[in-house]
Amino acid sequence: MQFTVAIDGPAAAGKGTISKAVAAHFGFAHLDTGLLYRATGRRVLDGDTPLEAAQALRPEDLARDDLRTGGVAEAASKVAVVPEVRAALVDFQRSFARRDGGAVLDGRDIGTVICPAAEVKLFVTASAEVRAARRFEELKLTDPALTLAQVLADVRVRDERDSSRAEAPLKPAQDAILLDTSDLSIEAAVAQAIAQVSAALPG
Ligand code: C5P
Repeated sequence: MQFTVAIDGPAAAGKGTISKAVAAHFGFAHLDTGLLYRATGRRVLDGDTPLEAAQALRPEDLARDDLRTGGVAEAASKVAVVPEVRAALVDFQRSFARRDGGAVLDGRDIGTVICPAAEVKLFVTASAEVRAARRFEELKLTDPALTLAQVLADVRVRDERDSSRAEAPLKPAQDAILLDTSDLSIEAAVAQAIAQVSAALPG
């Protein structure tokens, strides 16, 4: 069975958690496409040009444990504006999406560019303040000097760059279902996502 769930949205809206939970619930494979851009950004910080970095990506690049830092997120959103970088990553994402047994892909342009024919498209969002507070809780464990104001500023800069780029900007597909998690517990958000997928599965 081929069945694609596309989950897009801005940083720290909850799409990673929702995607993992949906994939586990239905036994689908999951691809966090942000990791492709983070791993590309990481290689650029190490000296590659953006295109070299995207073309040279190997599974071990995606498994690095240093991809979740603010510096790498920033580098990722910079390489993500380069059209050739995006093009180099398309085929891998599309074949993942159509693998047998169902797939969940989360990112920024899955429903709009990578899988416009996905059976389910969700756009997960939350206010910038709520998203910054969530990200701050995560990051402060490894960076005690960090402030909430700084995280909020970073979230806003990254949102602006992701939404205003010419190529594959962050925006909901026309037929995406909006899921605003600002006032939802993670359990409630996951339950809503699962209900949407269940409704779309072939009887
Ligand atoms: O989702 P995550 O925060 O890991 O993504 C890091 C960056 O990668 C984003 O800010 C965005 O610029 C880029 N990205 C993208 N398209 C995707 C996934 C991520 O442009 N499908």
